[in-house]
Amino acid sequence: MKTGPSPQTGNFASRVKGAVRRNFNQSVRIYQAFEEKRGFFQDLTAALARWMKLPQGATILDIGCGNGASCVALREACNATVYGIDLSEAMIADARRRLRDPHVHFIVGDGENLDMFRDMPLFDAVVYNASLFVFPNPERSLAQAGGHLKTGGKIGFSFYPRLYSAEFPDLLGRAYEKKGWPLPKFRTITSWDKACHALEGLFGNLETATHEITGDVSFLIDFFSIPAQSASLFPKLPYEERAEKVRELFETLDAEGTPFTIGWDMAMAVKRPE
Ligand SMILES: C[S@@+](CC[C@H](N)C(=O)[O-])C[C@H]1O[C@@H](n2cnc3c(N)ncnc32)[C@H](O)[C@@H]1O
Repeated sequence: MKTGPSPQTGNFASRVKGAVRRNFNQSVRIYQAFEEKRGFFQDLTAALARWMKLPQGATILDIGCGNGASCVALREACNATVYGIDLSEAMIADARRRLRDPHVHFIVGDGENLDMFRDMPLFDAVVYNASLFVFPNPERSLAQAGGHLKTGGKIGFSFYPRLYSAEFPDLLGRAYEKKGWPLPKFRTITSWDKACHALEGLFGNLETATHEITGDVSFLIDFFSIPAQSASLFPKLPYEERAEKVRELFETLDAEGTPFTIGWDMAMAVKRPE
């Protein structure tokens, strides 16, 4: 029997990482315009830092830091020293160009290979803000992160949003249904359950929560107009066509009554003494 590549194969992992790099390299300008307008990724990171009760003055590793929104939020929330690592050279180049704070360091690299930190002191916390769900091997990344963490330190992540309202538990599905378009075959790289299982397996004391943000149709259009986000909805189309489709798709929700809720799930665990 012929089967597709399993998420464990190197081939699958390198194809995912290649696509992630391409998509985010293409996203810098629109990602930053979205963040300047909405402050969304900074707010989400601040909520994660509050919920994790990260200590003041912490040294934090921010894995999948993008162009630095999460690093800035960690710096501000905890007066932290932050090391941000990201696969996308263009996101890191943008972060280095705009953010010049001696307490915030940017590194191009793969969050599943953290060897470059082997000669550094251990971190107080490791954070993945809106990134772990595109890691093909979260177990590997989390295990390595755990190795670079002090005893008593914490690992936490925020996870891809669910869209719902009082009336509709799945607004994305509702939008496709109203358009009469087939729901795309979403390819889950790493599910919430898989990521939680990996973190629980590492430290054995998982806590979870949901951070709810309200938004309207214009928010959804802005969010899904980021090239890397629209690629998940309309994977086969060039960016301009995807952006057009995103607008058409979410405008169908205009009649559904707002606000909508965008639920970001969050998980954390503490490295306890052995
Ligand atoms: C939605 S962005 C979030 C960026 C940032 N944390 C923020 O809050 O703005 C996800 C980021 O994860 C990065 N990423 C995905 N897989 C990665 C990997 N294996 N190693 C490092 N970064 C990765 C992407 O390049 C992208 O910049």
